Amino acid sequence: MSVTVRVPAKVNVQLAVGAARPDGFHDLANVFLAVGLYDEVTATASPGGPRVTCTGPDAAQVPLDGTNLAARAAVALARRHGLSPDVHLHIAKDIPVAGGMAGGSADGAAALVACDALWGTRASRDELLDICAELGSDVPFSLVGGAALGTGRGERLSPLEVGGTFHWVFAMAHRGLSTPAVFREFDRLGEGVAIPEPVASQDLIDALAKGDPDLLAASVSNDLEPAALALFPDLAAALAAGRAAGALAALVSGSGPTTAFLVRDESAAARTARALQDSATCRTVRTASGPVPGATVLA
Ligand code: C5P
Repeated sequence: MSVTVRVPAKVNVQLAVGAARPDGFHDLANVFLAVGLYDEVTATASPGGPRVTCTGPDAAQVPLDGTNLAARAAVALARRHGLSPDVHLHIAKDIPVAGGMAGGSADGAAALVACDALWGTRASRDELLDICAELGSDVPFSLVGGAALGTGRGERLSPLEVGGTFHWVFAMAHRGLSTPAVFREFDRLGEGVAIPEPVASQDLIDALAKGDPDLLAASVSNDLEPAALALFPDLAAALAAGRAAGALAALVSGSGPTTAFLVRDESAAARTARALQDSATCRTVRTASGPVPGATVLA
């Protein structure tokens, strides 16, 4: 028997970052939007697991050992329920790896939901969210999807209302960026500067609720962008190419290096995607819209 779970990528429409905490993490006001680029994780009963395999354009960069968040999710659920994690997890990967779109977190949430269905553990939503938060700051959002404000280190979620569909173009870079390295660079750039408490933007929350792309474009922000650009200066050219192509807003997605371009509609997405591809400032270009649901078992 197998269970397959489909799970979306995310873009951060606001990422407000506070000063480093004593535990090394940063308090955030992190507004997530789930977008329609998906990984699929299939869990199949298999003795001696968890075993992880992966296919897709970036598969070679995905760790297949116990550090993979899908494997860690299976182990965490099994341990809580006194089971052994006898499972093969296959990841069909379409979300860019190390791209700032929560690809690894998505696989953790998907594996958790898949194993819960495969093993009949019937974990409550709260238990699943607890395990997700143990696995990583972005994993709870991959479970719930839609749009949400994440506070704390990003794991404490409040769902947000969204009044329409937002269209995006994503430009994948030639290499990845390490999230801890980007946060370290944020700390370095902020040395000696008073860093305010991170606060969600009411204008941005209103723009999401109205489903208005112009209002959203006027209020998106990412405090990690200067750090990502400092570590990866070529990203400035991708941002400029998207702006020149008429994107309403251009920003680094999360810790990067994927760049995200908000556009008015599907035809603008296709036009902007072509212009970005022709600009040769990135590896590949994808279009996607959101919000979309979080980790979902496929029939
Ligand atoms: O939570 P997660 O394991 O995904 O975080 C990866 C790394 O990103 C952390 O080890 C930390 O360096 C950084 N991080 C942070 N503050 C957050 C979330 C992540 O400093 N709120």
